[in-house]
Amino acid sequence: MATVDIREVGPRDGLQSEDPVAVEDRVRLIEALMDAGVCHVEACSFVSPKAVPAMAGAAEVMASVDRRPGVTFTALVPNVKGASMALEASVDELTVTISASPAYNEKNVRMTVEESLVQVAEICELAAAVPVDAVVSCAFGSPYEGDTDPAAAHDLGRRLLDAGASALTYADTTGVGTPRRVEDLLAWTGTGVGLHLHDTRGTALVNAYAALRAGVRRFDTAVGGLGGSPFAADAGGNLATEDLVHLLDDLGEESGVDLGRLLEASALVGSLVGHPVPSKVAAAGPRGRRAS
Ligand code: COA
Ligand code: ZN
Repeated sequence: MATVDIREVGPRDGLQSEDPVAVEDRVRLIEALMDAGVCHVEACSFVSPKAVPAMAGAAEVMASVDRRPGVTFTALVPNVKGASMALEASVDELTVTISASPAYNEKNVRMTVEESLVQVAEICELAAAVPVDAVVSCAFGSPYEGDTDPAAAHDLGRRLLDAGASALTYADTTGVGTPRRVEDLLAWTGTGVGLHLHDTRGTALVNAYAALRAGVRRFDTAVGGLGGSPFAADAGGNLATEDLVHLLDDLGEESGVDLGRLLEASALVGSLVGHPVPSKVAAAGPRGRRAS
């Protein structure tokens, strides 16, 4: 029984800023992640292919992937059009993106925060029984407005729940969070939220650790530590799944993910994007490996 829910966002966040990877290879990656025990995958996003060329073919990904029992497939959507395409493709969960930073929201989804809130309410109505996790990006800070007031991030979260969202995830899109700032945000939101952390400044794992100690049980991570936003130049990679699993294993927390098999998926994603991945554990190997 898992004590920590890892939502693997590598096939979406991990690949969205890379040169496009073929649909069949994206499917192969998702299947390698499931082979490693990953049971919650953000498989794709239903967004404009002009805005994010690497996410074109989302419906094909969903149609080709092996739908295994016990595995939840999520897709990120920015608007009602994306949500109806994702529901048509039989996703199990939607993540809807909205930003605590007004300028980032306009660059990312070409809507004001108020317009996005209207979309979220319509998406929740359309989704009916399919859960909608509202992901508040730039929850700690934005390249445009600087630090985000935790009270303001929390206030947006409350409005998203009022709009019908079933869960909230707070995202450190540009990696400006620190353990102290994680604690400040959690003091407002409580620990029944997800965190989506980026490692731009080397703080993703220490932020996850602070959140774990505080009681947070849901994390978004990306295999290899790939990732970033095409709309924030300094986004940096996501918290690497293998780096978090390595820590959780040592803490006696159960994620259901097998580190050895996950490292195989990490090697696969490195070969698909054609460059080394940022994960430290992928580079060094797990603890206990002896030099030969
Ligand atoms: N999926 C696919 N196509 C979409 C779409 C969606 N969710 N929403 C709109 N479109 C299409 C429209 O049909 C239209 O197509 P056309 O040019 O062939 O007629 C085109 O995109 C423009 O539509 P419009 O409503 O004017 O959108 P826009 O240009 O204002 O862009 C978004 C708004 C939200 C579609 C776009 O900014 C986007 O996809 N952003 C996603 C960003 C992202 O994924 N960021 C990373 C994750 S946080
Ligand atoms: Zn992200």
